Amino acid sequence: MGTLHSKALKIGLLMVWLCGVVLISISFYVSTLILPSSSNKEQIKNLMNSVGPTVTIFAAASPFIGLIGSRQSLAVRSWLGLSQDIRVVLFSQDPSVFSFADSFGPDSRVSVEPDIDYTFLGTPFFHSMVARAQTSDSDISVLMDSETILFPDFISTLNSVHKLDHDWLLIASSRNISDFPFQLDVYGQHWIGGNGQRIEPKKECLSHGSLEHCDDTKVIMAWNNGDIPLHNGVLPPFLYGKGFHTDWVINEALSSKFRFVFDASLTISSFFVSNLDFDFDPKIDARKWENVGNSHLRALYGSLFFREADYSNVIKLFICNGHYHFGNATSNIVYPLGPPKGLSFNGVEVFRLRKYKKLIGCFDKVKSFGKKVGCSKKNQLMPLEPLVLPFSLELLLSVRADQNKTVVLAVAGYSYKDMLMSWVCRLHRLQVSNFVVCALDDDIYDFCVLQGLPVFRDRLAPSNISYDDCHFGTNCFQRVTKVKSRVVLEILKLGYNVLMSDVDVYWFKNPLPLLTTFGPAVFVAQSDEYKITGPINLPRRLNSGFYYARSDNTTITALKKVVKHASLSNLSEQPSFYDTLCGFNGSYRLDDDTCQEPETNLVVHFLDRNLFPNGAYRDLWDSSNVSSTCMNIGCFVLHNNWISGRQRKLERQVSSGLWEYDTSTRMCLRSWQRFKPVSYF
Ligand SMILES: *[C@@H]1O[C@H](CO)[C@@H](O)[C@H](O)[C@H]1NC(C)=O
Ligand SMILES: *[C@@H]1O[C@H](CO)[C@@H](O)[C@H](O)[C@H]1NC(C)=O
Ligand SMILES: *[C@@H]1O[C@H](CO)[C@@H](O)[C@H](O)[C@H]1NC(C)=O
Ligand SMILES: *[C@@H]1O[C@H](CO)[C@@H](O)[C@H](O)[C@H]1NC(C)=O
Ligand SMILES: *[C@@H]1O[C@H](CO)[C@@H](O)[C@H](O)[C@H]1NC(C)=O
Ligand SMILES: *[C@@H]1O[C@H](CO)[C@@H](O)[C@H](O)[C@H]1NC(C)=O
Ligand SMILES: *[C@@H]1O[C@H](CO)[C@@H](O)[C@H](O)[C@H]1NC(C)=O
Ligand SMILES: *[C@@H]1O[C@H](CO)[C@@H](O)[C@H](O)[C@H]1NC(C)=O
Repeated sequence: MGTLHSKALKIGLLMVWLCGVVLISISFYVSTLILPSSSNKEQIKNLMNSVGPTVTIFAAASPFIGLIGSRQSLAVRSWLGLSQDIRVVLFSQDPSVFSFADSFGPDSRVSVEPDIDYTFLGTPFFHSMVARAQTSDSDISVLMDSETILFPDFISTLNSVHKLDHDWLLIASSRNISDFPFQLDVYGQHWIGGNGQRIEPKKECLSHGSLEHCDDTKVIMAWNNGDIPLHNGVLPPFLYGKGFHTDWVINEALSSKFRFVFDASLTISSFFVSNLDFDFDPKIDARKWENVGNSHLRALYGSLFFREADYSNVIKLFICNGHYHFGNATSNIVYPLGPPKGLSFNGVEVFRLRKYKKLIGCFDKVKSFGKKVGCSKKNQLMPLEPLVLPFSLELLLSVRADQNKTVVLAVAGYSYKDMLMSWVCRLHRLQVSNFVVCALDDDIYDFCVLQGLPVFRDRLAPSNISYDDCHFGTNCFQRVTKVKSRVVLEILKLGYNVLMSDVDVYWFKNPLPLLTTFGPAVFVAQSDEYKITGPINLPRRLNSGFYYARSDNTTITALKKVVKHASLSNLSEQPSFYDTLCGFNGSYRLDDDTCQEPETNLVVHFLDRNLFPNGAYRDLWDSSNVSSTCMNIGCFVLHNNWISGRQRKLERQVSSGLWEYDTSTRMCLRSWQRFKPVSYF
C-alpha cells in the first residue's frame, strides 16, 4: 500500500506540473498558447533513441465465420504487420478462433485465451478481460475491438509514449467507415487496392471515416504495465460489447487520478466498418438481456459514471511538425513530449513566429476535435427494463443439456450466492457446462442473470426464503428442500436426467461418466452414513443433496411418491426420500448399499462413501490438506454438510482452499490471477 501511495502522490505532483502551475508566463503569447518551462523538461525522457516496447493486444473475438470472420482476420493481420514486438491474445472459447490462431503456425504471435469469465452464451465479461490484460508481461497492454484495423502510426504513438516516466492510460476512438475495399498482401505488410496495386489507404480512410459514432467498444485502451492500477475501486461485471464499460473505465481512471490519461485519437488511425446492413441474427435478439444487464450494473455501481461520456476535456496527444505534443484544450496549454530538436524552451528560438504559428495551427485543429455529438442522449439514464432471461425452462434445458440429455441442477437462494458462484466456478474449471440454476428468490435470480448464469425461477417457491438462517433443521430449510424435489420432478417429466447437487458439494472431478453407468430405473444417491464400516443404507441415511435421477417412467413414478410424501410431512424432504424409497425402518433394503421400492421396482443405489463422502465421514474437513486427503481416497465430490450455520459452513470451505470465487473482484479464481485472499471474516 505504501508504494502505491507514494506513486500516486508522484503522479499527483506530476499532474500539478501538467496543469501548468510551474509555467513561464509568456506574456504576449499567453492568451493563445502556453508552453511549459524548461526546468521540467527532465520529467520527460528523450524519445529519440528508444527501443520499441513489447505490446500485447487483447481482443474478444467472435467466431471466425462469414463477414465478421473475414473482417477480424484482416484486422488481426493488420496488427501483426505493424511490428514483430506485437503479440495478439484473442478471448474466446470457440473452436473457429483456435483454428484461426493455429493457422499462423506453432510459434506464432497469436494465441487464444479461453480461461476468463463468460456468460453461458459465450459473451466474455469485460472486467475479466481487463484483469487478464493487466497480468500481461509485455510492456504495454492494449484492449480493443477485434474488427478494428490499425496503421503504423499506432506503433509509433506507443513507441513515443512508452518513454513517459509515469504510468499512463491511452484512449483512442476509432473511425467508422462504410466500406474498406483493401486487402493485405501475403506478408501482411502492404495494402493492396482493387486493381492489385499497392496503395496507402490511410489518407482515404481518414477523409471518409468519422469519429462521430457512439459505440464505446470501438475505443482503444492501452496502458503501460506499471504497478499503478488503472483506477480506484472494482470494475462491475459488465458484459463485453453491451455498452457502458469503456466509458466507465475512462471516467473512473480520470477521477481516480492514478494515471496520466490522454486521448490519442488524433495520432492513431484506426478504422472499423459500420454494421449498418447487419443481417438479423436470432441469437442477438436472445441476447438483448445482456444490454439490459449492463444498464442495471451502471445503475447499481455507476454514480460517477453518469457524467456524460465526453472526452473533450481529456488531454490530447497530437503531432505537429513531426513531433508529439500533449494539449489541454480547456486551459490552452501545450506540452511537448520530449525535447525534440528545434523546439527548445530555453532560448528565443521558440518564439520565432513561423514556428509557433504552425503549432497554434495544429492546436486549433485539436481544440475543435473530440466533442462527441449525439451520444449524450444514448447515455442518459433510461428507466430500467426488467432483467429477465428470454428462456423458458424447456428452452434452457435444451440449450444446456449434454448429449445424454442430462443436466446438473443447483437450487439456491440469495444468502447462498457466494457459495453458488464458487460451485459454478468449480464446474467451469472442470469444463462441466450442462448445469442450470433454479432461483429460489428474486434477488438470486437477478444476481444470476448479471453473472451470466443459466437460471430459471421456481414459481411455486415461497418468496421469502432469502435470509441467513436457512440451514438444516429450520422451517426455512424444510421449505427450500421441498422445492428441490418438485423442480427435479418437473425436469424429469420434460425428458431430461438430473444430477441434483447442492451448492455446498465441492466437486473434485466430474462424476457424470460414473453416474451414467448405473442403468435405467436406478436412483443413485449420496449416503449420509458417517461410520467407516457397516451398511451405508440404514434408515434416513439417504442424502437428498446429491443424487442422480433418470428420466424414465419408473423413476418419475417413484419421485412423484416422494414429492407427495414430502408435501404431507412436517419434516424436510430428505426423510421422505428414504421412507418412500427404502421403507420406513429400511424395510425395502436389499443389501448394505441398495433398496428397492416395491411398487415401482425402482432400485436405490447408495454411492460409495469413499468416492462421495459426506461432511462427517472420516472428519475429512478437519484434515490439514482436505484436497489431497480426498484425492488420495478417490473422492469425486465432498459434501460440506454436517455443520450448522451458513457462516461456519462458508468459513470451513474457504479456509480449506476448496473455494473458487473471488467475491471482491466478482470473478472466478484463475491460475493467471495473482493470489488474492478472500476476505469474509
Ligand atoms: C458512422 O456512425 C454514425 C453514427 O452511427 C453514422 O451516422 C454514420 O453514417 C457512420 N458513418 C459511416 C461512414 O458509416
Ligand atoms: C486542463 O485545463 C483545465 C483548465 O485549467 C484544468 O481544469 C484541467 O484539470 C486540465 N486537465 C488536465 C487533465 O490537466
Ligand atoms: C414466509 O412466508 C410464510 C407464508 O407466507 C410465513 O409463514 C413465514 O413466517 C414467512 N417467513 C419469514 C421468515 O418471513
Ligand atoms: C453418456 O452416456 C454414456 C453411456 O451411458 C457414457 O458412457 C458417457 O460417459 C455419458 N456422457 C457423459 C458426458 O456423461
Ligand atoms: C412411460 O409412460 C408413458 C406414458 O405414461 C408411455 O407412453 C411410455 O410408453 C412409457 N415408457 C415405458 C418405457 O414404459
Ligand atoms: C409433525 O407431524 C406429526 C403428525 O403428522 C405430529 O405428530 C408431530 O407433532 C409434528 N411435529 C411437529 C414438530 O410439528
Ligand atoms: C420398524 O422396525 C421395528 C423393529 O424392527 C418394528 O418394531 C416396527 O414395527 C417397524 N416399524 C415399521 C413402520 O415398519
Ligand atoms: C494440498 O495438497 C495439494 C496436492 O498434494 C497441493 O497441490 C496443495 O498445495 C496442498 N495445499 C495446501 C494448502 O497445502
